[in-house]
Amino acid sequence: MTLDKKNSINNILEEKRIFPPSKKFAENSNISTQEELLSLKKQASDNPIQFWESFAKSELDWFEPFQTVLDNENAPFFKWFKEGKLNITYNCLDRHIKRGLGGKTALIWEGEPGDSKKYTYEELLKEVCRAANALKAIGVKKGDLVCIYMPMIPEAMFAMLACARIGAPHSVVFGGFSSEALKDRLIDGNARYVITADGGFRKDKVIELKQAVDAAIENGADKVVEKVVVVQRTKKNISMVDDRDLWWHELVKDQKDQCEPEIMSSEDRLFILYTSGSTGKPKGVVHTTGGYNLWSHLTFKWIFDLKDDDIYWCTADVGWITGHSYIVYGPLSNGATTLMYEGVPRRSNLGAFWEIVQKYKVSIFYTAPTAIRAFMKSGREIPDKYNLESLRLLGTVGEPINPEAWMWYKDVIGKDKCPIVDTWWQTETGGVMISPLPGVVATKPGSATFPLPGIEVEIVDKDGDKVKENEGGYLIIKKPWPGMMRTIHGNSKRYLESYWEYISFKGEKNVYFAGDGARIDEDGYIWIMGRVDDVISVSGHRLGTMEIESALVSHKSVAESAVVGKKDDLKGEVIVAFVSLEKDVNGSSELVEDLKKHVVNEIGIIAKPEKIIISDSLPKTRSGKIMRRILRSLAGGEKISGDISTLEDSSVLEKLKELS
Ligand code: WT7
Repeated sequence: MTLDKKNSINNILEEKRIFPPSKKFAENSNISTQEELLSLKKQASDNPIQFWESFAKSELDWFEPFQTVLDNENAPFFKWFKEGKLNITYNCLDRHIKRGLGGKTALIWEGEPGDSKKYTYEELLKEVCRAANALKAIGVKKGDLVCIYMPMIPEAMFAMLACARIGAPHSVVFGGFSSEALKDRLIDGNARYVITADGGFRKDKVIELKQAVDAAIENGADKVVEKVVVVQRTKKNISMVDDRDLWWHELVKDQKDQCEPEIMSSEDRLFILYTSGSTGKPKGVVHTTGGYNLWSHLTFKWIFDLKDDDIYWCTADVGWITGHSYIVYGPLSNGATTLMYEGVPRRSNLGAFWEIVQKYKVSIFYTAPTAIRAFMKSGREIPDKYNLESLRLLGTVGEPINPEAWMWYKDVIGKDKCPIVDTWWQTETGGVMISPLPGVVATKPGSATFPLPGIEVEIVDKDGDKVKENEGGYLIIKKPWPGMMRTIHGNSKRYLESYWEYISFKGEKNVYFAGDGARIDEDGYIWIMGRVDDVISVSGHRLGTMEIESALVSHKSVAESAVVGKKDDLKGEVIVAFVSLEKDVNGSSELVEDLKKHVVNEIGIIAKPEKIIISDSLPKTRSGKIMRRILRSLAGGEKISGDISTLEDSSVLEKLKELS
C-alpha cells in the first residue's frame, strides 16, 4: 500500500472557496447553530456512553430495554445495546402508523419504462407482512440467510423488510453481478433461499436475473440453495424448476397481511453485504440490528435535515450499502417519503433523473460524483429543461468529488440555493461518518468537512503517529460507533487483520483503519484522497485488484496478471490490466476482447477492464513481487519515478512503455 499513488489530491490542494449555508436554509434547519453542534460534539466526547444511550432511547422503540450501551470486553468485537430487544421493521413501519402516519406515502416507485406506484406506510406494512408470511410458508426461519438478487422494484424493498420482520438476515447481491459472483456469495453465506425476478429494466434492456440464478445454482450453489422465489417484472419467458422455483405473486396472494415482528436481540444479524477488499474474495460485512438501526436513523435525520413534507430520493441501488441505509432503513425509520427508481439516465432519456425530480417535486437528492460528472458532460441544457425548484438539499457519496463537479452540482442543479452534503462512509461503517450538517457547516468544494458528533477521526502515518496539517496519511477512526460492522462473515481473522491490525499503534489499541488516505487542512476540514490499498473505485463501485486478477488468470490463456486503476474524468478510475500469456498462446485483439468478456462473466459488467495490455513479462522485484507502482505510472501515462533498482529485469520496462 502506498500513499503516493493518487494524484486526485492535486486539484483539491488548491481549493480555497468556502460556502456557508444560506440564511434561509440555516434558519429552517433542525440543527441550525454552531452552539447546538458544538454541544452535541461535547456531549459525545465528554460522555460517549451517555450520548449513545440517550439517542438509542429517544430515537428507537425497544420491546425490551438494553442495560449495557457498549460492551468492549472482546474488542474489537464490540457489542451495542446488547440486552435490548427490537425489530427494525417495527421502527420503520408500525410505530409511524401507531402515531397516525399510516396514510403518509412511504415509498414512491418509478419504473424505467414509465410505470409507477406509491405505497403509504399502512400499505407498505401490509406488503411486508404478506411477504414475511410467504417466506415463513416456504420454510424460512429466524437466522436463515436469504439472498436477494433483484432489480430496483418495490418487491426488493418488501423482500428486505420481510426478512427483517421474521429475523432472517438478508444478503442483497447487486443485480449487475454475474452468476459466478452470485454463486460465490450464495455459497459463502450458505444462503438456502433466493429472491429474484424474471428480469429488470436497465438502459432500455432487460437484465436477465433469473437465468443468472439458474446458472449459479447449476454451477455449484445447488449445494446450498433450496428455494427460489421469482417476482414477475418483465414477463419475459423464463424456466421454472419444479419443487424449487416459486412465483412471488402466487406465494403472497393468499397470505395474511399481518405478521408479528420477530423479537430480535440488538446484536442479532440484520444483514450481510459483500464488498471488495485488497486481498482474496469479497468479504461479507456483517451488520446487526440495534446499532445499525440507530446509526442509519440518526445519520439520515442529521444529514438530510428531514422535514415532514420532504420527498427524498437516493439514486443508489439497494444492492449497495447506500441503498440499504439511505433508500430503505434510514428514511423509513424516520418516517420519510423515499423514492426508488428502477433505471439510470440513458442515451434515450438523458433527462430521466430531472424528469423525476420535477414529477414528484423531490426536495432532497442524493447521488454519486460519477453521475454528476456524466451530467456535466452531457451539458446543462438537459437539466435546464426541467423545473428543479423543489430541491432544497443535495448530497453526494461514493468517491471523492472534484471541485469542478461540486460547483456544477451547486449551480446547475442546486441553483445556488441548496447546500451540498459530501458524505464519506463505507459498507463497513453502516452509515455516514464524515459530512457537513447542512444548516451549520460551511462547505468547501471537494471536502467532506468534519466527522459527525460521536465520531473521532484522525490522520496518521503507518506507525500510527498523527501527521501534520495538510499532510497526507491514513484515515482512522478512534472510537467504536453503533453502526460499525461486527465482523466478516465466517472470517473473523480477516476482520482483525484488515481493519484493526493494519497500522501498528504505539500504545493505542482498537483503532479502525478505513483503507482511505486523507488530509486535514488548516481549518480542520477533511479531504479524502482515495483508497490507499489495492482497491479500485470504478464509478464509485469498489473492486479489489486481486479479484480481477484472479478472474483473469482463471482464463486458460493467461499465465499472470496485474491490475491497476487509472484516473478517469468520468468514472473516477478505470481498470487497466497487464497480462502475460501461457506458452504458445499469441496475443490478438480477439483474445483481448475474450479476456474482457471473461472478467465480465466472472464478476460482472462493473469489473470490465478498460484496457488490457499483453506483455511477455511483468515488472517484478528480485523476490518476485509485481511492482504495481510502475504499472500504475505506465497505465496513467506518467513518468516512472521512485526507486526501480529492485527491478529484476529492467528491459521489461522498455518493452512495457512501448505497449502501454
Ligand atoms: C469507499 C467505500 C459509502 C457508500 C458507497 C461506497 C469511498 C465513499 C466518499 C466520499 C471520498 C468516498 C472511500 C471509501 N468513498 N464516500 N464522500 N468522498 N471517497 O461504499 O463500496 O463500501 O466504498 O468509497 O474510498 O473507503 P463502499
